[in-house]
Amino acid sequence: MTGIISSVDKRLVLASGRAYPELAQQVGDAMGLEVASTTAYDFANGEIYFRFNESIRGADVFILQSMTSPINKWFMEQLIMIDAAKRASAKRITAVAPFYPYARQDKKHQGREPVSARLVADLYKHAGADRLMSVDLHAAQAQGFFDGPVDHLWAMPVLVAYVKQQVDLDQVAVVSPDAGRIRVAEKWAAKLGNCPLAFVHKTRDTTRPNVAVANRVVGDVTGRECVLVDDLIDTGGTIAEAVRVLYKAGAKSVLVAATHAVLSDPASERLAGCGAQEVVVTDTVPIPAEKQFPALTVLPIAPLLSRGIKEVFDDGSVTSMFDGVA
Ligand code: R5P
Repeated sequence: MTGIISSVDKRLVLASGRAYPELAQQVGDAMGLEVASTTAYDFANGEIYFRFNESIRGADVFILQSMTSPINKWFMEQLIMIDAAKRASAKRITAVAPFYPYARQDKKHQGREPVSARLVADLYKHAGADRLMSVDLHAAQAQGFFDGPVDHLWAMPVLVAYVKQQVDLDQVAVVSPDAGRIRVAEKWAAKLGNCPLAFVHKTRDTTRPNVAVANRVVGDVTGRECVLVDDLIDTGGTIAEAVRVLYKAGAKSVLVAATHAVLSDPASERLAGCGAQEVVVTDTVPIPAEKQFPALTVLPIAPLLSRGIKEVFDDGSVTSMFDGVA
């Protein structure tokens, strides 16, 4: 046989953007891995400088950025990091965006609108990402926007394990805050012992951003401990409205479980005063102290991300993390 057989081991490199370095640190800690040394700063005009401080030639590089505010800046920074990794001869580059930017704009509601979630996927690809990893995409089919492998992790096991301890499984009902997420709610209902399912009929005025109106509950929630599940809480309007109509429909209590706690103003105020017994979220985006409130429980997402990264690096199975159904 001709050629040279290499005995070089595979090398995993984890790099972090500046949006939420604590998350990368936690992911690294869970894997016994140091986050790569990098340099990043802003020029006076807002342009971003980035450099890997060590060689990453031939490495399997995971570039993690948490899409918190200002989201456009942090997305651009992640693209710049991917470009740097590509030009530094990384063997494979995975963009890890636990909260996928622009995920909600995944279709045109009216003529002359963009499909921003697709544009984001194209930009990742064009920058040099070979694969993507994200948690609870707004719509799972958005994976198809990226021309390459997408590891779509579910926060459900993390949230369900906690929620199960907080509710009486004989009394519980799972509620989707809109008709669009009923499939996810179905999975939750199965995990909570095939409990009853309901959804809120929600309408939005597409000309007014962040305004949601919950019209009524479809399904019987009378006397039930409702678990209201959503992918993200932005201004909290959807959740606060849903909690209101659930109580009106006779719910005994409402626990909110959501993956991405964006919590744009006035979300914290709304959630704290909406009557939910507890709001359970993960930290795919940072939740500063001023956004926290007594009923808020934050579960760490780092263990899920670290396991996903390890499975990808080891050529293992991400699906196996979710009972073989992800
Ligand atoms: C909508 O389809 C999403 O799943 C969320 O319910 C929504 O984006 C949350 O936004 P807000 O908290 O501003 O109502």
